[in-house]
Amino acid sequence: MSILVTGGSGFIGSNFILEWINKEDELVINLDKLTYAGNNYNLSSIENNNKYLFKQGDIANSYLVAEILKEYKPKYIVNFAAESHVDRSINNPDAFIKTNINGTFSLLNSIKDYWLSLKEIEKTSFRFLHISTDEVFGTLNLNDPPFTEESCYKPNNPYSASKASSDHLVRSFNKTYNLPVLTTNCSNNYGPYQFPEKLIPLVINNALERKRLPIYGDGLQIRDWLYVKDHCRAIRKVLQLGVIGETYNIGGNNEKTNIELVKVICNLLDEFKPLKKNKEINYYEELIEYVQDRPGHDRRYVIDSSKIQQDLGWNPSETFESGIKKTVLWYLSNLDWVDNVKNANYLNWVEKHYKS
Ligand code: NAD
Ligand code: TYD
Repeated sequence: MSILVTGGSGFIGSNFILEWINKEDELVINLDKLTYAGNNYNLSSIENNNKYLFKQGDIANSYLVAEILKEYKPKYIVNFAAESHVDRSINNPDAFIKTNINGTFSLLNSIKDYWLSLKEIEKTSFRFLHISTDEVFGTLNLNDPPFTEESCYKPNNPYSASKASSDHLVRSFNKTYNLPVLTTNCSNNYGPYQFPEKLIPLVINNALERKRLPIYGDGLQIRDWLYVKDHCRAIRKVLQLGVIGETYNIGGNNEKTNIELVKVICNLLDEFKPLKKNKEINYYEELIEYVQDRPGHDRRYVIDSSKIQQDLGWNPSETFESGIKKTVLWYLSNLDWVDNVKNANYLNWVEKHYKS
């Protein structure tokens, strides 16, 4: 018995694997290409665990994927592998098309052949779970109701368009070939091991280096933040109880504007890593700087999670206040992790993207 996780060396995938190893007995195989965003430091605590196996490779490498499937016969496959940063997708969409669309397609083809080769009883218990995002639904106005599973797909940037395409391909493999698939569409995650190009770790890292905290546009864009471990619990629920062919929205019920969020982080840093003795003054907030907006910037995402709550009994356990405090404290106690993951690709990106 085993489970194959793709993209397990990234932010959500590594949190998922660490939790899975803790709770389940199956062997976990992690297939990851190790792009700039994939780091095996995230999983160093389990590298010698006999329930964990790492394979470096691309989900689009059908020979390698077929070999892994034949040898380890996974019962579940969870696909986290993706290019995931919106700003990079605006600068250079090619990699997003290659991995998120062509890669997912190739992976689906390999999995279909494998699934067809299984015995009836194994076929019945097999699941392919595709991890997607709320960004496929596009943007909401302030008074619009949250996205449900019935909301139309209206992606606005190459990242969300590529994820939308992958979701459609996954759906089609169920409708056409009966492949037992599940899809989750989750809101913005935060927590340990998030690569410091995304807003929360970028702000923490910049603040500690006394660099400016860049806020795009007016900073009033809204995201619905979910602590990553709550997302991982939801994925486990969907794998174990989800209905084949269904999609599940997952959200934190935590709408925050970007500027509000950044100020919360600054306050926590004032408390836990004060720059000066006088804790009354907000030193870190002085680093905030409004910069040019992101093109096609989605104004608001909010998720209606009532389906997964009612059908599968999942609820987030972390409040925004407890989750963001844990996150800031995690980064403060893992400064060496941040230093290790800041590779040349990352430093180049920061230099070019934030040059003005
Ligand atoms: P991430 O960028 O931190 O990690 C992606 C991982 O995929 C990396 O380890 C990378 O090396 C690997 N990878 C990239 N291309 C690959 C390929 N061709 N073959 C094999 N491995 C490859 O991303 P994340 O934030 O952990 O997101 C994981 C998934 O969750 C993505 O599919 C993303 O769209 C989705 N998602 C993310 C969020 C979020 O807030 N981060 C929210 C909802 C959904
Ligand atoms: P991000 O973490 O890139 O996630 P996403 O684009 O998938 O929502 O960004 C979260 C929000 O923060 C988004 O509205 C863009 C904004 N943002 C900034 O204002 N400044 C930054 O430097 C970054 C990276 C993001």
